[in-house]
Amino acid sequence: MTSYQLKIQTIYCGDNIKMLKDLPDESVDLCYIDPPFNSNRNYEVFWGDVQEKRAFNDRFGDAKAYIDYMRPRVNEIYRVLKKTGSFYYHCDWHASHYVKIMLDEIFGANYFRNEIIWKRTAAKGLAFRSLPNNHDSIFYYTKDEKFTFNRKYLPHREEYIDKFYKQVDENGRRYQLTDLTNPNRDRPNLTYEFLGVKRVWRWTKERMEKAFQDGQIVQLKPGSVPRFKRYLDEQEGTPLDNIWTDIQPVQSQAKERLGFPTQKPVSLLERILEISSNKGDVVLDAFCGCGTTLVAAQKLNRKWIGVDISPTACRVMGQRLYELYKLREGKDFWVDDLPKTEADLRELPHFEFQNWAVIALGQLTNMSGIPNKIKSGDFGIDGKLYPVELEKKKKEDKDLFGDIDKYYPVQVKQMDKVGRPDIDSFQTAIRRDGRIKGYFVSFDFTKDAIAEIRRLDKEGEIEIVPITVSSLLRAEQYKE
Ligand SMILES: C[S@@+](CC[C@H](N)C(=O)[O-])C[C@H]1O[C@@H](n2cnc3c(N)ncnc32)[C@H](O)[C@@H]1O
Repeated sequence: MTSYQLKIQTIYCGDNIKMLKDLPDESVDLCYIDPPFNSNRNYEVFWGDVQEKRAFNDRFGDAKAYIDYMRPRVNEIYRVLKKTGSFYYHCDWHASHYVKIMLDEIFGANYFRNEIIWKRTAAKGLAFRSLPNNHDSIFYYTKDEKFTFNRKYLPHREEYIDKFYKQVDENGRRYQLTDLTNPNRDRPNLTYEFLGVKRVWRWTKERMEKAFQDGQIVQLKPGSVPRFKRYLDEQEGTPLDNIWTDIQPVQSQAKERLGFPTQKPVSLLERILEISSNKGDVVLDAFCGCGTTLVAAQKLNRKWIGVDISPTACRVMGQRLYELYKLREGKDFWVDDLPKTEADLRELPHFEFQNWAVIALGQLTNMSGIPNKIKSGDFGIDGKLYPVELEKKKKEDKDLFGDIDKYYPVQVKQMDKVGRPDIDSFQTAIRRDGRIKGYFVSFDFTKDAIAEIRRLDKEGEIEIVPITVSSLLRAEQYKE
């Protein structure tokens, strides 16, 4: 039995196996996860650049490793879920069948509620000699028989309305006439004459008479079978089933898009939260990427907890919550365990370090630090600083990762001392990019490197601003 205090409105930066262990038993109402398939390359998968091109044997090996990796984490999630809690596991064809078996073992097959098929609208290219895979699977389990479940309805489709709601009354309301007779012929207490017609009716005579007085029952001509006027605007819609085709993936032009290919649409998470939680409930996402679940939870007045192993993801989330809801880190929400010392930063995978540095530099300079999405082919430029605020650009609907015309290139080196040759090659990269100023981040710079920077500056052609990791860390501490 673990019992710690539950800290809500918190993003934990770290491996969720450790973070989950710190959460109290039975403290979460709803957990959604969308883990990367290739678990050995977690850091990379946030950036979505893993191509699936391997043979089946490899995949089978991966699937086993993946399940071995996920099982202890899902066990922890099971422990922290309340008895009335629900769990949603988002995956796709790579591992869905293995995942289902694991979840049946952990939750019990009887507590499997649905496999939700989320159809992505556009298939990813034509597969060679097979059909394109075009859906994700979301497995839905509950911990027990008593659980939160709010049924959802979708608006009727136009064709359905045209086909079934043909009549329009004097007030312009659409309706259809529906049968009032009882399919069960053996109901003596419901067998009587109404408006001169003897039938087995659905309702009691009193209810029928009341509905008739209220104008809800019509008889088109004397002797014809009375029918019920079902108004379209009184219907809730079509009950939502497990095939979801009406939610678009985050398109390249979408306003909510942050540029991470694994980002899920907020409307998908809103739907899940509405079905399986109520206002004030605690929602957990233990693989929360750019924080889509947290955004949906905030929007729907749920409490939330997010976990991600990538410091970049944790920062992106913080930024997103500020931009959307003006939530301030340290006041309205907390980010725990971000790398805080030089030693922490030395430990980060190189790509994560680059991202950390570019984003932190943005904060230091009051610009928008946008790391490169791809890891290679950047010709010495690891990110860009835009001198306009992220928010403003978003309002103008500009693609943050596109080549908008004013930015400063950033180079990041996770090394003790940057030397003169590094400065020279950055200078070439800046020129090639058609810029005149750039920022260089590292742990330190040699005297030669600094002299070279001064010389370039004096020549008046290229300005390189050297930034040490310790100054970025100090600026962060000061900010807090
Ligand atoms: C597919 S993405 C999630 C995307 C998210 N649903 C969204 O809409 O932004 C998976 C995330 O899991 C994170 N991750 C991978 N392994 C992890 C672990 N062991 N603990 C915590 N987070 C992890 C990755 O950094 C990545 O951001």
